[in-house]
Amino acid sequence: MMRPRVLLTRRWPAEVEAHLAGLYDLTRNEADVPMCTEDLAEACRVYDAICPTVTDRIDAKVLARPLRVRILGNFGVGTNHIDSEAAKAAGLVVTNTPDVLTDATADIAMTLLLMIARRAGEGERLLRAGRWEGWNPTQLMGGQLSGKTLGLIGFGRIAQATARRAAHGFGMRILYHGRRRAPAEVEAETGAAYVETVEALLPEVDFLSIHTPGGATTHHLLDAQRLSLLRPHARIVNTARGTVIDEAALADALAQGRLAGAGLDVYEAEPQVHPRLLDLENVVLLPHLGSATVETRVAMGMRVAANLDAFFEGRNPPDRVA
Ligand code: DGY
Repeated sequence: MMRPRVLLTRRWPAEVEAHLAGLYDLTRNEADVPMCTEDLAEACRVYDAICPTVTDRIDAKVLARPLRVRILGNFGVGTNHIDSEAAKAAGLVVTNTPDVLTDATADIAMTLLLMIARRAGEGERLLRAGRWEGWNPTQLMGGQLSGKTLGLIGFGRIAQATARRAAHGFGMRILYHGRRRAPAEVEAETGAAYVETVEALLPEVDFLSIHTPGGATTHHLLDAQRLSLLRPHARIVNTARGTVIDEAALADALAQGRLAGAGLDVYEAEPQVHPRLLDLENVVLLPHLGSATVETRVAMGMRVAANLDAFFEGRNPPDRVA
């Protein structure tokens, strides 16, 4: 029997590629650079399964019929780069990789919280530039996380894991706003208290961490007006999607001292970063590292494999999102 033809749009960890190559007629994007619209559209006519990542824009143009592809096995939890309406209209199944990247991403949120609180980026730049003249009682004084209030916008798996770390590891008070209130046992276990609106949450927090999905419904959720509700000593962390924050408005607020700092792992137009953010000392910028541990990236790949296996065996894929 012919094995299904599967395309990985980027290179994946070697052990996952080997696993998939043993089961499928596997093609990898050897160049390991994002594929253009035309190449993705062509791939949809050639492969039974395409496994995209956040760097692929799968829109109606890419999914123009006739299509051979039947499943998009996304390598990642966020699927806002896939037009789900177009995928549905084309009769495609879409899957993602939840759970396996929760801890790694919550760790990056904590990394950013600590880095912006303790001015770690500034300190490292100073030292590497040869400008460190030795210990000094008032040099690079930051703030502590302990006893401070962390606000979370969105309260899914990654936000809850961040809340646990911040509450139980760092003694922070946790407030959250999400689409709906979490069950009482989740609130009790994470130490998080619900706030009815984003507007009510913002003035209360010392630190804010973003955990919403991307896409049209959350685009510029934090715009200039909402950013102005944060207190001047507040610091923002974003490990979700860059489009949730208006980057130009954020750069203005940081440059004008209306906000104390920001730690970003995601950007509005990756891999571009707003040029004014690059110039600010009170900003920590990471290159979308949320899920970037060996353990997590292997687990993500194996999760895609499990979804493909289920689909091609005629079962419902466990992580179907469309
Ligand atoms: C995710 O899983 O959504 C990460 O941001 C990488 O795409």
